[in-house]
Amino acid sequence: MSVNPERLKKDFPIFSNNPDLIYLDNAATTQKPSSVIRAVSDYYATINSNVHRGVYKISEEATEMYEGSRKKVSEFIGAREPAEIVFLRNTTEAINLLSYTLGRKLKKGDEVLLTEMEHHSNLVPWYFLREAGIVIKFAKMKADFTLDYEDFQDKLNTRTVIASFTEVSNVLGTINDVRELSNMCRENSTISIVDAAQSVPHMSVDVRAIGCDFLAFSGHKMLAPAGIGVLYGRKDLLDRMHPFLGGGEMIGEVDYNGATYADVPWKFEAGTQNVEGAVGLSAAIDYLKSIGMDSVREHERSMIDHIFKIMDTIGDLRQFGPMDSGKRGGVFSFNIGDVKPFDLLNQSNTKFAISHSIHPHDLAAFLDRNNIAVRSGHHCAMPLMGRMGVSSTARVSPYIYNDERELDLFFDALSNCRKEMAR
Ligand code: ALA
Repeated sequence: MSVNPERLKKDFPIFSNNPDLIYLDNAATTQKPSSVIRAVSDYYATINSNVHRGVYKISEEATEMYEGSRKKVSEFIGAREPAEIVFLRNTTEAINLLSYTLGRKLKKGDEVLLTEMEHHSNLVPWYFLREAGIVIKFAKMKADFTLDYEDFQDKLNTRTVIASFTEVSNVLGTINDVRELSNMCRENSTISIVDAAQSVPHMSVDVRAIGCDFLAFSGHKMLAPAGIGVLYGRKDLLDRMHPFLGGGEMIGEVDYNGATYADVPWKFEAGTQNVEGAVGLSAAIDYLKSIGMDSVREHERSMIDHIFKIMDTIGDLRQFGPMDSGKRGGVFSFNIGDVKPFDLLNQSNTKFAISHSIHPHDLAAFLDRNNIAVRSGHHCAMPLMGRMGVSSTARVSPYIYNDERELDLFFDALSNCRKEMAR
């Protein structure tokens, strides 16, 4: 079934409340369909209570919904069992959990392998480990904005305990072959972690087919409320790991001498959980499944192909990402201006000529005057910006409710922006 953006748009109240809005910032967060909003509101109106604690009816019903959502997530990403799904706030929290708990076992000189195209949330939590003498390495990005797999392989060695890599770059849209990377890790006895924040919302993801040890994603980027995210982990690994946060719900027994811990996944879910978030995530998965993840992916690919077709109408547009929609998710980062051809492989030649260029923030502000929402800035990927020789870019990220007409309007506005700013 192909995606029909015009029909889907009617499911999202934000568009009837803002009829002129062209929302193209879906890599940052997505809009919410009525079914998700209703699921959360119905939950509050009918069975709101604390889960796993009450022996009264509505608490038991809330617990059932919460655990039902866990089961749905587990099936959605192909986990072996719901116990492999830990509910957290978001991808950031999941990677912090991993850095903290796995980091406890690392020794001075052990290595963590990342890539040059990671978001800050898959960099900074690992940087914390440098204080304990852990070495952080980075697999290189190639000049065509794809990952250098040979470099990744070369950097895996007997000291590499953990490798953590994105499936889809939030800046470049590059789709990494995480199956291949996880395979390399397995052969090296290295723990593999996939940052799936920009993939699970946009394509079919199966953790067993990938063969990774851990994978993380956020609900708000896939039509669900903010504040609910998922860490998938292989059960045998989660079982052996130390908890992250301590408190209520994550314990077995507590006395004045110490505590034992609950079974997985509850061991990692201290405190009152975001039950309404899990309920919303469940409704979001139902919505996405009704479209089909392969159709979502195909639609985004067609959006990127359309952009490729018309981007040359803006003479001095410089884009950042693979020029093959088969290797690229629905993300298009660019700058406008009189820029020098950039040589990624020659770091000494990364000076960005800024004459006549339009700063991405000015561009985004101009587009906003035309009711077009795009992101501008470093996209929480400052090291990658440096690697690309820029301090920031503008970024367009379409989703299921965007269509070619909106992309055409975006390019018209871009062209007007250039004319106006060049005056
Ligand atoms: N990580 C989100 C983005 O790329 C916020 O915009």
